[in-house]
Formats: sequence, structure tokens, C-alpha cells
Amino acid sequence: MQDFVFHNPTRIIFGDGVVDQVGEQCARFGKKALILAGQGSARRCGLLDRVEQRLSDAGVDYVTLEGVQPNPRLSHAREAVALAKREGVDLLLAVGGGSVIDEAKAVCSGALVDHDVWEFYKGRLPERSLPLLTVLTLAATGSEMNGGSILSNAETKEKLPFRNPLSFPRVSILEPALTLSVSHWQTSCGISDAFAHLMEVYCNSPDPRPLLQLELIEGLVRTIRDCAERLMQNLRDLDARREFMWAATLALNGLTAAGSGATPWPLHMMEHALSGITDVSHGAGLSALYPGWMRWRLQNNGERLEQRLARLGRNCFCITESNDALAALRCITEIEDWYRILGVPANLDEAGIPREQDTEVIQAAARDAVDWGLKEYSAQVLTAIFAAARASE
Ligand code: NZQ
Ligand code: ZN
Repeated sequence: MQDFVFHNPTRIIFGDGVVDQVGEQCARFGKKALILAGQGSARRCGLLDRVEQRLSDAGVDYVTLEGVQPNPRLSHAREAVALAKREGVDLLLAVGGGSVIDEAKAVCSGALVDHDVWEFYKGRLPERSLPLLTVLTLAATGSEMNGGSILSNAETKEKLPFRNPLSFPRVSILEPALTLSVSHWQTSCGISDAFAHLMEVYCNSPDPRPLLQLELIEGLVRTIRDCAERLMQNLRDLDARREFMWAATLALNGLTAAGSGATPWPLHMMEHALSGITDVSHGAGLSALYPGWMRWRLQNNGERLEQRLARLGRNCFCITESNDALAALRCITEIEDWYRILGVPANLDEAGIPREQDTEVIQAAARDAVDWGLKEYSAQVLTAIFAAARASE
């Protein structure tokens, strides 16, 4: 295990009815909030009215801005920053999934500077931030308990991240029943995303023997697969929603990465380039790329991946094969089958991404790879990976 610093300052309030605490929690941080929400699901189910009422009850003034879209746009974040400045808000309250929370992180810091928020994503990290609280409505990204934010710039077709300790939410309210209305497609994309977060560390961590991390991740993978099976039978299985919600949070809150060493995240780098250009759902973009990347990596310095996939296959995908090379390949096939059961694409063709678009995505990914510390991922290497992520002829 390698040295690390682990500091996660987010207070998680998890359980039935906990949204009713949102007013008192916001009151701890200020007198006026900007409530940020998505394109209608929170309003339609009555959640936004409930949240606004709780803030009023707690004496917290608020202004609400809806309309954050999946793969959140820079243009909407700019609108939110202008509103936060005009209204002089003390805090942000994000009510939604990862997209709403990510945009809120930009607004928290954007409201305190004179320059454009996009500069945060271009390397000029925020030095201050308004407090952020969240009410999570979709389990997937882990944004409710991490300091990452990702925005899409529709003009340049870039989708870029920043990470900052100041951007961790102060409080995240996780009421699993709120996720009962999440569609089959978004549930599956969320499962794929949480699994991908675990796989980035599992497959790519440089530590030669990160035993504790592998064990932790395998436990989460087994839990997520179990929840997935129950949810595919019944999207309204509250027990499965509860377990999956916390598992998805744990999958990207720094816990599995601590002690694993500086881990590259190639799948997320490639997927962000993909969804920046095609607007594919993040979880679907990841599932479309993963099997192809795994096959490519096995053939290119793939010794470590072979051992880890063989282990993953035996511990999480019921594979009994004793030969590592065969077990690793079987594991990839099992992952593809599992994606198809979930209803997410197992390659770029199943995702409906035209082959003609590969060149543009590859160029964008090759450009982003440098900032992600992934110098190995040249246009030539990416071309081989994207070819492997196409359905075999
Ligand atoms: O906009 P509304 O109407 O609310 O509908 C949303 C949206 O259409 C809907 N939804 C959310 N909660 C719902 C619901 N529908 C019914 N019932 C509910 N309770 O779901 C759709 C997708 O929402 P979105 O927030 O986009 O999904 P997700 O949470 O998967 O977030 C994806 C974004 O997060 C980024 C992704 O790249 C993508 O932009 N990520 C953020 C990360 C982070 N900050 O750490 C890490 C991830 O790897 C990821 O990159
Ligand atoms: Zn992700």
C-alpha cells in the first residue's frame, strides 16, 4: 500500500425522510440560497416544492434556477453565476443528479470571482467557494461526496473537469426513495458509471499489490451487481435503491483510491471526449469503451490487467477458470453480457455512435490526454482502442 492523504469533509445524511432536514442544514451556512435543479423531474415529483418549503420554514431566503441539462452546459453555469452574484446568495443547494451538482460546484466558486467560470476547467483552480449542499436524486457519479466538477462547452465541444478540495459539498442529503422514479435507462447508466469508477482504480492503480483496495472494490462490485439484478427486476425495490445509492457514493469519494497510488483514469478521459462531442450519456459512453479498452490493454503491457481481471472474474463474476489469461478474457465477456442485461451498450456500435465520428473524438481525447497525465494515449494509441471498441465484423 502506498502513502496517501485522505480527507473527506462532506457530511452525509442518509435515510427515509431526511430531505425534511434541508432547511435547518442550509441555515447553518447562510441566509440566502441559490437552489439549482435539472429539467423538471424534481419539480414534477414535488421534491422542489418540498425543499423550498423547508427552506422557508427554516428562515432561509432562496432563489431557484432550473434547467441544468445532462452533460451540463457552460452557458447555463454562466447564467447561474450571474444570478448568484445579482442575488448575493450565501450558499448553493443542488437538487438533482451529478449534472446539477457539478454545475453547482462551478457556480459556488464562479460567484466569487470576476473571471469566466470556464477558466477553472482550463487549469485556473478556484481559491474560494461558497458552501454547497446537495439533495441527491440519482445514484451514479459520487459528485455528492467529492470535489470534482465536469462541464461541457457546446461551442468548443470540450467536456472538461476540475478537482478541488474546496468543492466538496458541505452536506449531502441522500434519501433513497427519491431515486425510485429514475428510469430504467438512467438507472443502468448510473450502475455502469459507479462500476467504471471502481474499475479505473482496480485496473489502473500502480501499486503492485493493493490488497485492501482490491478487496474493498470487489465488495462494492458484488454489492452493485446484486443491486443491479434486483433493480432490473423491479425498479421500485427500495432496499436495492438504498444499497446502490450508498455504494455509488463510496465508489468515488476517495476511499478506494487511498493507498492505491497515483492512478490514471483513461476511460473517463476518453468518455469525456466522447460525450463532449456526441452528448452520449456518461454511463453509456463508459460501457461502450470499457471492453474494447480492456482487450487492447491486455495486448499492450497487459500483465497487471490480466492478473486483476482474472481475480475480478473469479471473485465477482463466478469464473472458475484457473488459467489467468483465459480467466481475464472470460471476465471481459462476462462484463459485456452484464452490460447487455442492464441495457447499456457494450461497444460503440451498440451506442449508436457513427464510425465517422471516431476521428474527431480521438483528436479531442489525444488533446485532453496530456492534461490528464496520460501521455501514452496518443492519437495512434487511441485509434487502436477505438477500433477495439467497435463491434467485431
Ligand atoms: O434534469 P432532470 O429532469 O432532473 O432529469 C434527470 C436527467 O435527465 C434525470 N433524473 C435525475 N434524478 C431523477 C431523474 N429522473 C427521474 N427521477 C429522478 N429522481 O436523470 C437524467 C440524468 O441526470 P444527470 O444528473 O445528468 O445524471 P448523472 O448523475 O449520471 O450525472 C452525469 C454527469 O456527471 C458527470 C458526467 O460526466 C455527467 O456530466 N460526472 C461527474 C463526476 C463527479 N463530479 O465526480 C464523476 C463522473 O465520472 C461523471 O463524469
Ligand atoms: Zn464516471
